[in-house]
Amino acid sequence: MQAEIINGLEIRKAILEEIKTETAEIKAKYGVVPGLVTILVGENPASVSYVTLKVKTAESMGFNEIQVNMSADCTEQELLDMVEKYNKDDSVHGILVQLPLPKHIDENKIIYAIDPDKDVDGFHPVNVGRLCLGGEHVKFPPCTPAGIVEMLNRKNINTNGAEVVIVGRSNLVGKPLANMLCRKGKGANATVTLVHTGTKDLASHCRRADILVAAAGCPDLIKPEWVKPGACVIDVGVNRVGEKISEKTGKKVAILKGDTDFEAISKIAGYVTPVPGGVGPMTIAMLMKNTLNSLKFKLGLI
Ligand code: GUN
Repeated sequence: MQAEIINGLEIRKAILEEIKTETAEIKAKYGVVPGLVTILVGENPASVSYVTLKVKTAESMGFNEIQVNMSADCTEQELLDMVEKYNKDDSVHGILVQLPLPKHIDENKIIYAIDPDKDVDGFHPVNVGRLCLGGEHVKFPPCTPAGIVEMLNRKNINTNGAEVVIVGRSNLVGKPLANMLCRKGKGANATVTLVHTGTKDLASHCRRADILVAAAGCPDLIKPEWVKPGACVIDVGVNRVGEKISEKTGKKVAILKGDTDFEAISKIAGYVTPVPGGVGPMTIAMLMKNTLNSLKFKLGLI
């Protein structure tokens, strides 16, 4: 069996087209566009490249994008003041503070300071609570798990009654995804098992999975013989395993590896996501969707 590759770049393109069209329609009707502030502290190379892509994407959607760069030695209070400035700004509908932050800044304190109704990352405890309650309470599902659910739904992969095994219990991916997939409703209704690298007999759990999500951050953790033939394998791992010179730009770039052995698993699974080009691109699409939705909530459209 040769698995179908789920192309995150293609799905992202389709979603961004929809968002761009809707943004133009709202602008024409209401005279407003979504406003997104991205705050970057310091110059961590991975964070710089993520933020650059978020900024470019937001601009190409027709959003009002405000990029704030703060120096790595800014104080916690200076960052809190910056967040507060945009909490109060009515033209801003989304605030994103790129993580990780320098060690001297308490990340939780910053996340808690963001107005939950502008927290398009979905990291504030109010939004975590809304997600747990489900249904009409949900406002901003966190972008990576939301991207995975969107991928499954757009590829018509059945989640109804399906055995979903998620390897990795992070607040960013594993825990919220488990919540999203076990809820009642279309595109969910799954039987979810949340496991981790310390789980007894991890292999036997994985072998049961109709949908196996690898989100542990361990290269090649999931062995091909742990995959049920025909299963859908979603690889969320973005492990930097070395560096190479890019053929395109001639610059040094990271070599990325997922949590699964893509080539071997492609011969067993029914669907697989590549790394890069699978789940990664979906995160930005869902960030744009959350930002647009923030404006739509404000306008009473949802
Ligand atoms: N750093 C890595 N991923 C993310 C993300 O999704 N949001 C924020 N704010 N920081 C990140």
